[in-house]
Amino acid sequence: MHELLKILSDGKFHSGAAIGKKMGLTRAAVWKRMQNMQTRTGYAVESVPGKGYRLGLQAELLDVKRLRALVGEGVDLELLDSVGSTNDYARQEVRRGRELQLVIAEEQTSGKGRRGRDWQSPYGSNLYFSLVWPVTEGMRQLEGLSLAVGLAVLRTIEDLGVTGAGLKWPNDVLVGRKKIAGILLELMGDLADKSYVVIGAGVNVNMVSSVDAISQPWTSIAEQVGRAVSRHEVFELLYGHLQKVLSIQSEQGFEQLRDDWEARHLWHGKKVTISSANTSINGVVTGVNSRGELGIKTGEGVQYFAGGELSLRLSDDS
Ligand code: BTN
Repeated sequence: MHELLKILSDGKFHSGAAIGKKMGLTRAAVWKRMQNMQTRTGYAVESVPGKGYRLGLQAELLDVKRLRALVGEGVDLELLDSVGSTNDYARQEVRRGRELQLVIAEEQTSGKGRRGRDWQSPYGSNLYFSLVWPVTEGMRQLEGLSLAVGLAVLRTIEDLGVTGAGLKWPNDVLVGRKKIAGILLELMGDLADKSYVVIGAGVNVNMVSSVDAISQPWTSIAEQVGRAVSRHEVFELLYGHLQKVLSIQSEQGFEQLRDDWEARHLWHGKKVTISSANTSINGVVTGVNSRGELGIKTGEGVQYFAGGELSLRLSDDS
């Protein structure tokens, strides 16, 4: 499939015979691959008798030159065709001493979600990247960070015209109950010495409903706005919003973003159950504190919970 997308990525017409020759396939087999590729990526392919196949306008592959121009000179950005997980790759490179700052991939073969889940990462249709952020301000920089990143993603998808989206603590970005993006932060190094946080983000951009079953309900920007969306545009907006929240986060801390975050929390005031591996507590969501911890009012007053491995469910969910 990658080969097919690459041939078509110039936006020009290619005849079935020419594609078949390049790929060593019959024209019928090319047609079959084309159907399969459209189903998996959601890309529209125009087919014109006598001319051949052409990809729809927005069905572009990522272009490293454009991405580098967006983030500016001096940022070590790498674009990979396929990788297990951009977070794992970033960690591995940093461990080897490289000053890698951004890694983006067309596909992840073992994309990771929170709490041991997988993150479906089909080729060429969504955005998967990891940003390596040095920790220079100690704990203040990290407290509430995953919530701040969620806010940057939410602002991005709203800029693109998605309505009805919001946040679910700690960092899910949802439209109704469907997930449109996910964030995975991983800390590496020693806080007392040199440490980094790897900020991994996966945004469902052009994925369509026919993609293989995913355990959680999900949606994509394209599904919400009714058209394919340029991943370069999504990346440009998201990178800009990330730069803003990260600078607030390191200079002033999450407290500065807290009101904005709380105003967008879909589960504010809702009855919830919060569980870890061995406990489960019921109560009503009161908000988040300046460390990004979730406040839940129980019979014993308000208790605060810190992110990571906790799972939050609505109490009336059956
Ligand atoms: C979640 O909501 O469970 C978090 C999903 C995080 C997915 C992103 S995609 C880029 C980066 N690399 C990974 O393996 N995971 C994160």
